Amino acid sequence: MLETQAPAENSNVLRNVLLGILGVYVVFSLYFSYQLNERINMLEAKMSGIEYTKENAKRLEKIYLTRDVAAQRSETIRQLNLSSGESVLDIGCGPGYLCESMGELVGHHGAVVGIDISADLIALCNRRKPSTWLSYAIGDATKIDQAGGSFDVVVCTQVAEYVPDVDRVLSEAFRVLKPGGRTIFVATDWDAVVWHSENPQRMALVMKSWEEHCAHPRLPRSMAYKLVNAGFRFDGASVFPILNLQYDDDSYSKGLSQGVRDFVARKKDVSADDLTEWHSEFERLSEAGRYFFSTNRYIFRASKSAAHAS
Ligand SMILES: C[S@@+](CC[C@H](N)C(=O)[O-])C[C@H]1O[C@@H](n2cnc3c(N)ncnc32)[C@H](O)[C@@H]1O
Repeated sequence: MLETQAPAENSNVLRNVLLGILGVYVVFSLYFSYQLNERINMLEAKMSGIEYTKENAKRLEKIYLTRDVAAQRSETIRQLNLSSGESVLDIGCGPGYLCESMGELVGHHGAVVGIDISADLIALCNRRKPSTWLSYAIGDATKIDQAGGSFDVVVCTQVAEYVPDVDRVLSEAFRVLKPGGRTIFVATDWDAVVWHSENPQRMALVMKSWEEHCAHPRLPRSMAYKLVNAGFRFDGASVFPILNLQYDDDSYSKGLSQGVRDFVARKKDVSADDLTEWHSEFERLSEAGRYFFSTNRYIFRASKSAAHAS
């Protein structure tokens, strides 16, 4: 009897062990494929062109201190029309200068949260972080780690064009906004850049290559209807122009030219000599009083209906 039951018991034990191993395998596979998907999503968000790791983060910080970008920030702040006590989310806060100015306006009864996908930029922000009601976090614009209906104001300046799934950025902005809340999106249309060169063909080649630094180089053209599709009421748009007649350290276009040169050099669409020539021409033009750069920032205002149930 014992001799005949032993193989059956053994096979039950074996079956249970195999089922256990299979179960563990399934759980681990599901976990790892979830982790892999998360990683791919994060990479997709990052890989739209420029990754703001240490050197690029520092350069962005420098460009954002120029008079041109400071003036653009002042215009954004003016249009946001913030009041003391309001809560604000800045999606893709970059070096955090806009957050700091907004923090001063909402005061200690309010709150400003800045999120950015770049850990290095968030580290720069935290190094300066001036007040307790201002906080920063690493975060993805397509998956904002905030409860629905949390903010009076959501601002997103020159970020949406870098995110492949731009509609998701808009729907996330809509979700985290309180009913009755308002938003501002600022974006660039890279076709609207006028940058003088005595070699317009070379300029066109460089700018064509640079276009790939962002996922949506002409986003302003579709922004109004995208906002409406995401659920917002569209409240209007305006243009903020940047014009440089000098190629100096305080101009937006000087910092931009260095970023363009480095990005295009990595892509190798333009020969190294042509790229060096492209970049060095600006000093010469400026010294001769013939430098000209202009671009537009398109500023879109929208709001969430007060009647919207979150
Ligand atoms: C051109 S900068 C604009 C920075 C800032 N909003 C400003 O105007 O001063 C673009 C910023 O978007 C951030 N970014 C890009 N993709 C993102 C994403 N998926 N989620 C959050 N931030 C993102 C970048 O790290 C970078 O700081």
